[in-house]
Amino acid sequence: MIERNNQDLEPVIQSDDSVDTSEELVFEDSLRPGNFRDYIGQDQIKKALQLAITAATQRSEPIDHVLLYGPPGLGKTTLAHVIANEMKQPIKITSGPAIERAADLASLLTNLEEGDILFIDEIHRLPRTVEEILYPAMEDYVIDIMLGKGPSAQSLRLDLPKFTLVGATTRFGALSGPMRDRFGLVHRLEYYTPEQIEKIIARSAKILDISIDSDSLKQMSYRTRLTPRIANRLIKRVRDYAQVHGDGTVDKDILYNTLELLDIDEYGLERADRKIIQTIVDQYGGGPVGVAAIAAATGEERQTIEDVYEPYLIQIGFLQRSHRGRVVTEKAYTHLGVEPPAKNNQKNLL
Ligand code: ADE
Repeated sequence: MIERNNQDLEPVIQSDDSVDTSEELVFEDSLRPGNFRDYIGQDQIKKALQLAITAATQRSEPIDHVLLYGPPGLGKTTLAHVIANEMKQPIKITSGPAIERAADLASLLTNLEEGDILFIDEIHRLPRTVEEILYPAMEDYVIDIMLGKGPSAQSLRLDLPKFTLVGATTRFGALSGPMRDRFGLVHRLEYYTPEQIEKIIARSAKILDISIDSDSLKQMSYRTRLTPRIANRLIKRVRDYAQVHGDGTVDKDILYNTLELLDIDEYGLERADRKIIQTIVDQYGGGPVGVAAIAAATGEERQTIEDVYEPYLIQIGFLQRSHRGRVVTEKAYTHLGVEPPAKNNQKNLL
């Protein structure tokens, strides 16, 4: 688990096994906005959170528990940090898969302090037995601990400090009903507009001291799958290219050469995205086909297809969901340069 004091952005790493020390985390920190003013987009969510924070601060209380869901890379973790910063409270960071046993969560909860923000990423992956400990903790700030086993076992109720749980998930549907019901603020993050992505890239370019012309900025925004994480990754790669093959300045040539190198097309799709639609076209006549079959044919995990690839392919109108499975659209056929099935023979196309 990582603990951050909001005065001091260096993570304090606790001595348990749920530690995240990735370089990406350190890099991303420098590009991540620390407050609502710098956070671009998701305006409705920002307004709702700002209101909750102002009201809670006036009452000298922690804010209600917050659930953020939506496709990866849209800023759920960033928002959790922003909430902590705006509340001027430390944030403790962990994830569903890192908490294996009820005792792990009990120890985490009993070490919290009044007002702490506890961020649980991938909260849908908490084991059910762990989830059950969370219910009374979220609702009444108590946990029930079992002492001993068998007929002599006794339950001990411990009071917890008032804390705020911020949960993040890519799979809202995978959360149990009781879990969802215990969050007072529930928000779905949406894909950004190209204009918002342009602003995010411009902000990152400024932080990284990269000079980029406005046309390249615009072109770049279309290749990011409207996702800040991808935008920030791409700008890093473009910076590398400009440094090695140019004078450090990013122009259209540098951008297009980098995109070609990374095999990113004009929709921002990478090889793996295209493989999914190509496979449905080549092996399943454009669909409908179930996700399990797509996973087997492409070698991707079913969950990765559902959580990572599919949402954006649906967003840009390349893929549709039907009750019989996934179907590739005419727009996707055109993009692949493949003739769509004839209209009168179009049992498949929606
Ligand atoms: N970096 C990553 N996400 C961002 C956002 N929503 N606004 C500004 N910068 C970001």
